[in-house]
Amino acid sequence: MANKPERENIVLIGFMGSGKSTVGRALAKRLRFQFVDTDQIIEDRAQMWIRQMFERHGEAYFRERETAALESLLIGTHRHIIATGGGIVTQPRNVPLLQKLGWVVLLKADADEIFRRVSGGRKRPLLEVEDPRARVEDLLAQRGELYAAAAHFTVDSTGLRREQVVEKIADEAQRVFGWNP
Ligand code: S3P
Repeated sequence: MANKPERENIVLIGFMGSGKSTVGRALAKRLRFQFVDTDQIIEDRAQMWIRQMFERHGEAYFRERETAALESLLIGTHRHIIATGGGIVTQPRNVPLLQKLGWVVLLKADADEIFRRVSGGRKRPLLEVEDPRARVEDLLAQRGELYAAAAHFTVDSTGLRREQVVEKIADEAQRVFGWNP
């Protein structure tokens, strides 16, 4: 069993389309936690969409804002579900911040399911390329170990309904945080 985290938060990491926001919101309801999303914090602060930020300032600028969002959450965030952007683990400086923030849960799904979930939107600048499917596979390969190294617990959501994923995380959270059933 994992050590009890410093803070009573659940931090969701994982690839784009792995369900961090939808699972996160449902989990927050289930546990009566607040929900927060680092992408949302970044957009609210900058008053621009992430895709605009990538276009105007580039990815490195976005990554700085992402680390700043994590740092600001370290102050006074308790009993929150914190959803993060899929690339958060690409910056080594972010990993200790994630782990300090709470219990880090990795949501996994296979490439087919990820691709299905991310297709059709124009929300994800990194997938606006000629062959998004190949890009998904490349990025998954690049990031797989980074996600695993940052996570305290992993749930593979391939073929599961959102409620089943929520229950798996809620059950384990009960053990990790030592809550009474
Ligand atoms: C990114 C994932 C996005 C967003 C940005 C970069 C990534 O978040 O942070 O477009 O590098 O994988 P989601 O995982 O919520 O789509």
